[in-house]
Parts: sequence; structure tokens; C-alpha cells
Amino acid sequence: KKANIGVVGLAVMGSNLARNLAHHGNTVAVFNRTYARTETLMKEHGTEGDFIPAKTIEEFVASLSKPRTAIIMVKAGAPTDAMIEALADAMEPGDIIVDGGNSFYKDTIRREKAIRARGLHFVGCGISGGEEGALNGPSMMPGGTEESWKTLGPILKSIAAVAEGEPCVTHIGTDGAGHFVKMVHNGIEYADMQLIGESYDLLRRGLGMTPQQIGDVFDEWNKGDLNSYLVEITSEVLHQVDAKTGKPFVDIVVDKAGMKGTGTWTVQTALSLAVPVTGIAEAVFSRGLSGMSEQRAENARTPLTGPNGDLGIDDADKAAFVEAVRQALYASKIVAYAQGFDEIQAGAKEYGWKIDLGAVARIWRGGCIIRAKFLNRISEAYDNVAAGKQEAFSSLLFDDYFTKAVESAQEAWREVVAKAALAGIPVPAFSSSLSYYDGLRSKRLPAALIQGQRDFFGAHTYGRVDQPGAFHTLWSGDRSEIQTA
Ligand code: 6PG
Repeated sequence: KKANIGVVGLAVMGSNLARNLAHHGNTVAVFNRTYARTETLMKEHGTEGDFIPAKTIEEFVASLSKPRTAIIMVKAGAPTDAMIEALADAMEPGDIIVDGGNSFYKDTIRREKAIRARGLHFVGCGISGGEEGALNGPSMMPGGTEESWKTLGPILKSIAAVAEGEPCVTHIGTDGAGHFVKMVHNGIEYADMQLIGESYDLLRRGLGMTPQQIGDVFDEWNKGDLNSYLVEITSEVLHQVDAKTGKPFVDIVVDKAGMKGTGTWTVQTALSLAVPVTGIAEAVFSRGLSGMSEQRAENARTPLTGPNGDLGIDDADKAAFVEAVRQALYASKIVAYAQGFDEIQAGAKEYGWKIDLGAVARIWRGGCIIRAKFLNRISEAYDNVAAGKQEAFSSLLFDDYFTKAVESAQEAWREVVAKAALAGIPVPAFSSSLSYYDGLRSKRLPAALIQGQRDFFGAHTYGRVDQPGAFHTLWSGDRSEIQTA
């Protein structure tokens, strides 16, 4: 018997994915650079389904039925390149190499081109959901050719998470489209986490609530519009007590957030596409700030002055403020997602991908880290536009549902941002999202003044509100205006 799918790289993600595939009736060839790992997988889980363990890449490839399809689950970067090379050498035209890691989409575009030139298919596939998702149902974002999707689609559908009866996988677009969308997913994940972090900080420092109490609040929030995986696990983390000290777990963890780079890519890419993803950017910057050990140590010695974080809210008014934070979180979250979808749209335009944004929202409803109830609303909005039931909008914020949601949350949102500033609690993601919203709705922006400054020092010219063309004022001369285009 031959395997209809293979998995290369059997660290936790790879092993779990292989097991998930085997659980769903696939015959799975497995290969790892060091055979001991393959043996461990077989020993511990070999009876869970049909596996064909291979000692060499040649053996692995020979055990696959045609078109041979193999998912690579090794570290992004050089190890992925090396494995792609080895597989491509051993495979034949028509075979399909899938990279299931968090690869940078430009690497995926490059690799797809090189592999296609050799007659094989290369699919960059974003996989979200962590270890648990890989085992029990991830959300998957494959790119690559339509032809490869014909073979790969049914296999991925067999293991994907299911949301509202639909598998959380769709063919995103050609070459790097899948990894691009996964990158933005991670950016949104950063923003979501930062917004939750800011909410926690406001309740903890601002209102003096305990982690247990705040965990209960997140439990409550999880029952409404904010229902999501990240809100759910936030409550779990906040309720956790450290066994060694009996202190809240969150208090014994070093307050320095790590990152592996996908959030940074999202922002770098957004900058080059000129899409203001302010929420995601602030989330990346905040992780960066948390890691500024030298400056934070200096502040511990000679503290920068300012208010101490107490919001000064009476007990009787605390519940109302908690509700205001909930609304601020919801509104900011809408902005962050709107910005993320803007980036996907801009990427699609730049790289010629046809990305169905409604489908993206739909496959994010289950399996992935940012799975959330309100993605239903996002998919509805894009689907309605696609079906001609609703006029196209340039930003999710202009979709009726979200316009109204932000409208009803905005008073609370403003109150929270203003009070945080007065109390000295940093809320970069809350406040930048609010500023973005206010920027979008401003009839006149101070950009006019900036154009004046640019024209003054660099003759960069400006447009006029009352006439087409480009103009320059002779600032160092008689200050009359000339038309330059
Ligand atoms: C997912 C996650 C996953 C990974 C993050 C962590 O969708 O399952 O996004 O890909 O856990 O990349 O990112 P940081 O280490 O950068 O926080």
C-alpha cells in the first residue's frame, strides 16, 4: 500500500499533523532527518492509523502514490530550503511539495517559481492553531496552483477544523497568497493579544482588580460579541495560580513578550504597501518596548515621573468602567481586523492574487488562534458584497454592521483612552485605533500643512482644492504660485 500524503519534519507540529491525517483515513508517509523521532512517533502513536515510516528521503518519496504530495514541517528559512531541494531532487514532475511552516511570503513566491520551473508544484500553506490545532483541526491557508489544490484540497479538508459545518481551509490564491494571508493572520493575532493585554492592565492597575476577578470578567466577555479563543485562554491564564509560590501565575512571569517575526513582517509589508495597520504596528512595538531591558532598568533606578496608573474610580462606578473597557476592546478590535483585511486586499492587488475575503474570514472562524464569533459578521459583509446584496465598501468600518458597532462603542472607547492617558496607563493599541478611526472620519487632515512644509523646503509641490494640477509657491522669492503640472 502507498501513502496518499507524506509529512517531513516530525517535531510537535509535524507529528500532530501526521497523526491528524492518519486519524482521518489518510495513509501517511513520515520522515524526519533523525530517524529516532520517527521511531518515537511510531512507538507512541503508530497504532492510531496507517503510517509508513521512512528512513531516507528516497524511501519516503518511493512510498508515496502519484501525484506524490508531501508537507514539510521544518523550521522556516534555510532548513525549509534544504528540505525542498532534497524533495524536489527525489520527486518527479507533477508532484506536490507543501511548505506548512510560517514562511515569509516572498520566500514562497521565489520557491514556487523555482519549483514550477522544474515541473513540480510548490504550495506555501499557512497553518494556524498551534499544536492542538495541528492534531485536532487547524485552519489552513494554502497558496499554489489550482491544479495542486485539486489533489491537496480533499486531503486538507479531511483534517481541517470545522466551523458552522464548513472545513476551515480554502485555496487562497496562487504562489505566496497563502503565506501572505497567514502572515496577516499573525499580525491580527498580535493586535488582538495587545488589546486584551491593555484591557487587563486597565482593570488591574487602573481599578485594582485581582487576576482572578479579571479572569472572571473575561469569562463574561467571552459570552458576547468578544467570544473568541484568545479571550477564552486569557481567562485560563489569569485564573492560573503558581504552584511554587501560590501567587497568580501572571505575576511570576517576566513581563517581556517574545516574538518570532511574523508580526514584524506584517508591519514591514504593510509599510511597503502603504497600508496603515496601526493596531498591529503598536502591538509589535509594544512587544519591543517590553524587551528594552536597559531602558527599563534605568527607569527602575531613576523613574520617569508621571501618574501611578490608578484611575481613581469609585467602587460604585467600577462595573461601568469595566463595561467601557469591553466596548473599547471591541471597537479597537474591529479597527485591527479592518486594517488586516486592508493589507490582504493591498497584497492581492500588488501580487495579482484573487483573494475571496469572505472565504478568508470563514476559514478563520475555527481552528486558528484568532478564531472569533465576530468573524461571522466579517464574512457576511464580504459575502454580501460578492453576491451583489450590498454595495462594496473600502474598509470594513464602512460596512453597516461595523459602522453601527463602532458608533455605539465609541463614547466608552473615548472615555477609556482619555482616562488611561490621565492615569498614566499605556494603551497604544486602543488609542492608535481610535486615532485611525478619527483620521478616517476627518473631513480635513493636517496633511495639507505637511504638503505646505514639503513644498517650502523641497519644492515637492501640492494640489489645490479648487483646481486640478500640481503647484509650487516661490517661498524664497515673491511667494507667488506657479503651476508645475
Ligand atoms: C498560529 C500561531 C503560530 C505561532 C505564532 C507565534 O497561527 O498557530 O500564529 O503560527 O504560535 O507564530 O508567534 P510569536 O512567537 O511571534 O508570538
